[in-house]
Amino acid sequence: MSAPGDDSESAQSLELTRIEADAFFYTVFEYLGYDFRDYSDASRNRRLLRFVQRNSLGSISEAQGKVLRDADLLSAFLSAMTVNVTEMFRDPQVFGKIREALVPRLGTYPRIRVWVAGCSTGEEAYSMAILLAESGLLERSTIYATDIDAESLRAAKSAIYPADAMITATRNYQASGGMRPFSEWYVAKYDRCILSPELRPHIEFFSHNLATDNVFGEFHLIMCRNVFIYFEDSLQRRAELLFWQSLANFGTLAIGTREALTDAGGTLFTPLDRKQGLYVKKQNDHVRA
Ligand SMILES: C[S@@+](CC[C@H](N)C(=O)[O-])C[C@H]1O[C@@H](n2cnc3c(N)ncnc32)[C@H](O)[C@@H]1O
Repeated sequence: MSAPGDDSESAQSLELTRIEADAFFYTVFEYLGYDFRDYSDASRNRRLLRFVQRNSLGSISEAQGKVLRDADLLSAFLSAMTVNVTEMFRDPQVFGKIREALVPRLGTYPRIRVWVAGCSTGEEAYSMAILLAESGLLERSTIYATDIDAESLRAAKSAIYPADAMITATRNYQASGGMRPFSEWYVAKYDRCILSPELRPHIEFFSHNLATDNVFGEFHLIMCRNVFIYFEDSLQRRAELLFWQSLANFGTLAIGTREALTDAGGTLFTPLDRKQGLYVKKQNDHVRA
């Protein structure tokens, strides 16, 4: 049975956690440049508390001092803050639509540049590489795949995945309209699979932070799926403008099928297929950096 006053005590302790967490994220941004200030509060603070517990840190304030001084702890913190769930040909209909509606246009460019933002452990980037290879376009394509999580990027570069992930990958690939036996795209060894060496030279994995970094090239297709769900609207707006600036004329932006643009009035993008999260860059002379 709860004693009178318990409710206000727990409300007070929640408020203290919020204040400590805000101070923590402010410091991490000021001193290290990692900006989580505009991530959705509830899941961000829950992850921070879990990180504090798992690393036997007494409090958020203690974690703050240690993360600033200890590079390994910082790396563990960044991994704890990011959700890395992904799979090859995730949401197969999206890849089906890309094959059907975008590949013919991509084929008209002498060099094709794709940016996969928030690539996690790389599955989405390799899926695009397979799709482009099967469309005869991989030789003239480069896929720039970026994330803030160094551990995920390391895994992505290795192109090695657990063998059982290939079951879902095969199912998704087929549902996306893939026609070959998917096993042609990897070699199995014990409980691991390594993806075809044909793919890797066309993908560049590197760190890029959507909260703080800027334009680094011009792309025909940008995929940023299942990343906005962790952002507050202000941060998502920043990323949307960054993508608009980074797209070539008539370039396409792919967002998650359960996500929506904050640009509801359609000043930056026109829907190509809203259900599959595909939008085309609008030519808009009045939009400025
Ligand atoms: C759920 S995964 C999505 C992976 C893949 N795009 C997909 O849809 O399967 C979200 C990824 O976004 C990355 N991320 C989170 N905040 C980011 C930021 N500010 N800049 C770049 N990537 C970020 C995380 O590290 C994580 O790998």
